[in-house]
Amino acid sequence: MLNMALHFKPLHPSFGAEVTDFNCGQDVVRNTESLKGALTRWQLLLFREQDLTDGAFVEFCRAFGDLELLPEPEKRHPEYPEIFNLSNIRPDGSLTPKDDPQAVFLRGTSRWHTDSSFRKIPCLATILYAVTIPPQGGDTEFANMIAAFDSLSGEEKGRLRQQKAVHSYAYSRSANPGELKEMSAEELAKVPDTHHPIIRRHDGDKAVVYLGGHVSHIEGKDVTESRAEVRALEDRLTNVGNVYRHQWREGDVLIWDNRSTLHRLTGYEIDKYARVMRRCTVSGTETVNAF
Ligand code: OGA
Ligand code: MN
Repeated sequence: MLNMALHFKPLHPSFGAEVTDFNCGQDVVRNTESLKGALTRWQLLLFREQDLTDGAFVEFCRAFGDLELLPEPEKRHPEYPEIFNLSNIRPDGSLTPKDDPQAVFLRGTSRWHTDSSFRKIPCLATILYAVTIPPQGGDTEFANMIAAFDSLSGEEKGRLRQQKAVHSYAYSRSANPGELKEMSAEELAKVPDTHHPIIRRHDGDKAVVYLGGHVSHIEGKDVTESRAEVRALEDRLTNVGNVYRHQWREGDVLIWDNRSTLHRLTGYEIDKYARVMRRCTVSGTETVNAF
């Protein structure tokens, strides 16, 4: 089969592109290598007007690499364990109340973060397929963290390159806005804290600021002080003209590179409007390299 030429329509001046005239269910097998390259190059790819069965969605996602299984078995799709159903609809069809653990969990994604950065080998990418979209709210924002690095002063670049951040699932979970079920010591033991360089090498010669909501503090520094420092830095570095806000349409498939972007969900009325996404996560292939 011949490779087809891919067409890209930029979404933001510094990153992200819509791949036009592409059928995720049919065109992926013969374009795997160019799609992987495009993801690293553009950091975020959008495919509109897709109509995929769950099986076809998983197959599309597999083109980008092995898929992660979520730590929480009860959140997995019964037939395709790689799919994580991001949904505020309960089994009886009603919407989750605001203080329901599932609503708290979903709201947890509204802080800037990069997925599974608490792992020794964090994921490479995440893919969302929009099934049901609320009539208002529920956009997702993405920040280009290569542009973030470029915005730092020379002194900051030099200083941050010497530092590592402590990424902690236990911390980020505890910082969720509301009550979640306690994790057992056994569950926590499966997700020990991980230390990653703050400035990460990407795609050969690019430097990325690799922080986000799983970061508890900076290695070797006072926890409270360095946590505040990290949060202030994240605020600043997601405000340098490097943010793309995605307004979802049903049928959108969006894949983003978690190595070089941060993202967050923007608010919507979780107990009033349904929002259903299918999610797959592409495993990383290497540890976080310092720049
Ligand atoms: C996630 C996430 C954002 C969204 O699933 O990790 O950040 O818009 N989701 O649902
Ligand atoms: Mn996320």
